[in-house]
Amino acid sequence: MRLLVLHGPNLNLLGQREPGLYGSSNLEAIDGALRQQAAGLGVELACFQSNHEGALVDRIQQAAGTCDGIVINAAAYTHTSVAIRDALLAVALPFVEVHLSNTHARERFRHRSLLADRALGVICGFGPTSYGLGLEGLVAHLRAAA
Ligand code: DQA
Repeated sequence: MRLLVLHGPNLNLLGQREPGLYGSSNLEAIDGALRQQAAGLGVELACFQSNHEGALVDRIQQAAGTCDGIVINAAAYTHTSVAIRDALLAVALPFVEVHLSNTHARERFRHRSLLADRALGVICGFGPTSYGLGLEGLVAHLRAAA
């Protein structure tokens, strides 16, 4: 099983960026923990971050035929990007939407997600653990479907 973790804009700044909201772990540490978790689950994991919508769309398109599922924190693009939604629907891979913060406890514009209604599940509010929970749920779903 091969899975992809996608991180959207500004997540390269984790650790320095609004630590009260997003915590003190940097992206390298989060990806490292996910790689360890994936190895324990016996799955291959690729991680990718970009600040650019088109680069995220390209990476989602590349996942077609090479990946079995996606864990995505599209960050601000969650609330705005028809292009990322369309790419996820085009490749038709199961995906889990994750957020470090509880977006529903924040500004109104963060309550809307353009991805959530097509996601397998949505996990938010648990800091880096949101990614781990998303990975675990995705693997369980894919194993049950196999
Ligand atoms: C975020 C929440 C988004 O609203 C925000 O734009 C981010 C991070 C999160 O992980 O909590 O950049 O996706």
